[in-house]
Amino acid sequence: MPDSSLSQIPPQELAERLDRGEALQVLDVRAPDKVERGHIAFGAELDFHAHPNSKLLAVPDVRELQLDNARPIAVICGHGNSSKKATAFLRERGYEAYSVIGGMAAWETVYVARQLSPTPSLSRVVQLDRVGKGALSYVLVSDGDAVVVDPGRHLERYDTLLAELRATPAAVVDTHVHADYISGARAAAARWQVPYFLHPDDAVSPYDQTPGRLTYQALSDGDTIAFGRATLRAAHVPGHTLGSTALLADDGLALTGDFLFVQSVGRPDLAGHSESWAKLLWHSLERVRQTWPGELLVLPAHYASESERRADRAIAARFDVISATNTAAAMQDERVFVKWIADHAMTFPDAYRTIKEANLGLVNVSDSDAEILESGPNLCAIG
Ligand SMILES: [Fe+2]
Repeated sequence: MPDSSLSQIPPQELAERLDRGEALQVLDVRAPDKVERGHIAFGAELDFHAHPNSKLLAVPDVRELQLDNARPIAVICGHGNSSKKATAFLRERGYEAYSVIGGMAAWETVYVARQLSPTPSLSRVVQLDRVGKGALSYVLVSDGDAVVVDPGRHLERYDTLLAELRATPAAVVDTHVHADYISGARAAAARWQVPYFLHPDDAVSPYDQTPGRLTYQALSDGDTIAFGRATLRAAHVPGHTLGSTALLADDGLALTGDFLFVQSVGRPDLAGHSESWAKLLWHSLERVRQTWPGELLVLPAHYASESERRADRAIAARFDVISATNTAAAMQDERVFVKWIADHAMTFPDAYRTIKEANLGLVNVSDSDAEILESGPNLCAIG
């Protein structure tokens, strides 16, 4: 339980309690426009409320806020300062309130690790869920060797997990150059002295073809990464980016990156080539429909809502289930697909271009810049 004398809750603990479905209320006290751009949307039984501090502290009768005084309230703001005031205000009125330490900025650095079923060659398959962003990375372990896929920039989380798993990193992979978060992959490869794998088509800027300033090992279609007793096989599935690559293990798992999600597909419109990349995406989908077995477990790099979770709260689904239930993946006609993509075109944050350039080594961003660039949930999926 949180320490009620301090009336604060660390964001990691909040995430774990929401994950378990505890009957917590979350109260966001930021300005409405900030809440609209992204707020806590995580948890099996999330009970979310938003009342800006200015309104909350001035309310004549706190019952107007319709908070339940029988259940704890986690109060969150931008950086964990104004939430303290709101927490004290609610406590004085008999509510069990806790201020979330570090606010939304800290919430976006929380990773919840989830162990999935092992495969014949992988003793551990861990999905790291960066819950504030809907971003998923993976640690795969075979015979004490680990491959880390699509890591975020908070490398200490991966160090801790690897130590817990008693695993030694052997390689780091990006399934594509990310637009919505600063990848930790290159820094991890340097720190752990292991190769960094990336498809060569993603090693150049998609905007102006400037070659990325990065050291990487090319991972092309059909290439393999061997570690422990396991082998990952690369399948080039362009569309979301030109170099998008899925990683298959034991013909049982497919880490699909932002190519294929549980309920959607990766947007092909992030670099200004919407129609031609939509066609590439269609052909990638056609290819996997013809070659991937139905029982293959798809493990994507993102999700957009809680509805994409399994009963055990992992984000994963069999390929045959996705083929039948995912609107984009179920389409049978290329023209219908390309039109559907065009009809669902959305804007995307200006920050995405800077993030991609940072991931290509073309610009440097500090940790505080990264926090601002990354803020908010991902917009990588269509729809
Ligand atoms: Fe992406």
